[in-house]
Amino acid sequence: MQVSVDSRSPVDASADVLALPLASLDPSKPKLPARIAAVDRALGGRISSIVSSGDFRGKQGQSVLVYPAGEIGTRRVLLVGMGDEGSLDAEALRCAAGTAMSQAAARHASSVAIAAPNVRRLRAAAVAQALAEGAVLAGYRFDAHRSPPEDAPGEVAAVSLSFDRGVDLRAARAGAARGVCLGESQNVARDLSNEPANELPPSELARRSQRVAREVGLRVRVLDVPELKRRKMGGILAVGQGSANPPRLIVLEHNAPPTRGRAKTRSRQPTICLVGKGITFDSGGISIKPSAGMEEMKHDMSGAAAVVGALRACAVLKVPLHVVGIIAAAENMPSGTAYRPGDIVTAMSGKTIEVMNTDAEGRVVLADALHFARTEFEPRAMIDLATLTGACVIALGKLASGAFGNSERLVEIVRQAGDVASERAWPMPLWEGHRKQIRSEVADIKNTGGREAGASTAAAFLSNFVGDTPWVHLDIAGTGWTSKPGAYQGRGATGVGVRILLEVLRDWKSKRLD
Ligand code: BES
Ligand code: MN
Ligand code: ZN
Repeated sequence: MQVSVDSRSPVDASADVLALPLASLDPSKPKLPARIAAVDRALGGRISSIVSSGDFRGKQGQSVLVYPAGEIGTRRVLLVGMGDEGSLDAEALRCAAGTAMSQAAARHASSVAIAAPNVRRLRAAAVAQALAEGAVLAGYRFDAHRSPPEDAPGEVAAVSLSFDRGVDLRAARAGAARGVCLGESQNVARDLSNEPANELPPSELARRSQRVAREVGLRVRVLDVPELKRRKMGGILAVGQGSANPPRLIVLEHNAPPTRGRAKTRSRQPTICLVGKGITFDSGGISIKPSAGMEEMKHDMSGAAAVVGALRACAVLKVPLHVVGIIAAAENMPSGTAYRPGDIVTAMSGKTIEVMNTDAEGRVVLADALHFARTEFEPRAMIDLATLTGACVIALGKLASGAFGNSERLVEIVRQAGDVASERAWPMPLWEGHRKQIRSEVADIKNTGGREAGASTAAAFLSNFVGDTPWVHLDIAGTGWTSKPGAYQGRGATGVGVRILLEVLRDWKSKRLD
């Protein structure tokens, strides 16, 4: 999809649909923003009569379609509600663009012009970014495996964002380009997460990562079973051993330092590691899950999907950091070769893990991925993303990812980035008491700590493998997919993680960790 920025008056728009986002209006004294008032005048006051009728009050999600009779260059004018003026933010803009896109697509329009609203708290670049994100995200469909239905919506090929004269168009264009990149990268993550497990075993997740890497110019390395064995990655190997589809460790690198001979050179830019849980299907293993809802466990690699999407965005946006994505990919299955409750496995770090429940597999694969990240790359910071615990879904629902870590400062950086990107991350406790809960009598630690504080004990488990590297763990079990469609988000994978990560990495050097 093409997104362009101009400073045309909406009256002169020539697109198939002209979308006019409006904040809440009082039908008794409607006051339209100047540029929309100009459209209203051109249409002989039809917009004000709709508003004074009370049929359109600018509520979030509301939309009304108006058909001009040739007075202006466009055939359809769509009023889109954004909700209260005082609470307008980037999310309201994403939703408005999303509503405009789906209304346009339903009518097989191929071009949309959006009159970019003035939002007091946002600069033009941020407005353009949010509108572009909403448009690109709303255009997403997962139809790789179906023939198009009769009533399939069309595809909008071009979106133009029209700003007031006087705004910095160069900045707006840069914002739009960033928004398109983030939206597309998030869609890459959604595609991976939505792919069913038969189509996306670990080897295929690796191939798809390699394809993305080739497209945008990332270095990529895939470790297969012999290599995992050589490196004594007992965690990933244990979880993967029950499946006919063997595990992989996938490493994606943006701004990789040049390799001289076989010796590794240190990157001159700070290194940040992004680690993703890539369980391509989580049946629970021998501690098998109940069958109701088990199909959702194809999404158990949403953390990995976010890492691929984020690395793609880093490359496209030329983020001035050495960013490494590390994905622990395995399928958790019950079989004659599966790992069992009671097993003691030795992780790459040398720590031993008593397996209490084979369904607590994410932390077992992440143990190796985090240790590998730390020892191989000596990063300034690590962030992992994982659909790790049902307990986190109970705590925060689908409204926020859980944020745990060993550095209050890094947790705060991540929380703030989540606010800006509208991918909320909420700080959760990780205390000595949680670490005590996973002490084992026969191994160094055990992989579950009982029913209490399940999200925190999972994070406490991970903390055993990060050393003193500043680290944040994002539990995206609640936010990774949804069954309730929204303005720019359909049923299925959300691609959560891409926007928050890119916001964390933005101006990284100005965010002091100490
Ligand atoms: N992938 C699941 C967590 C999950 C559950 C994600 C529901 C999204 C929705 C994870 O591997 C898991 O099974 N966790 C267990 C841990 C327990 C056995 C300690 C859980 O949360 O029940
Ligand atoms: Mn599990
Ligand atoms: Zn899982």
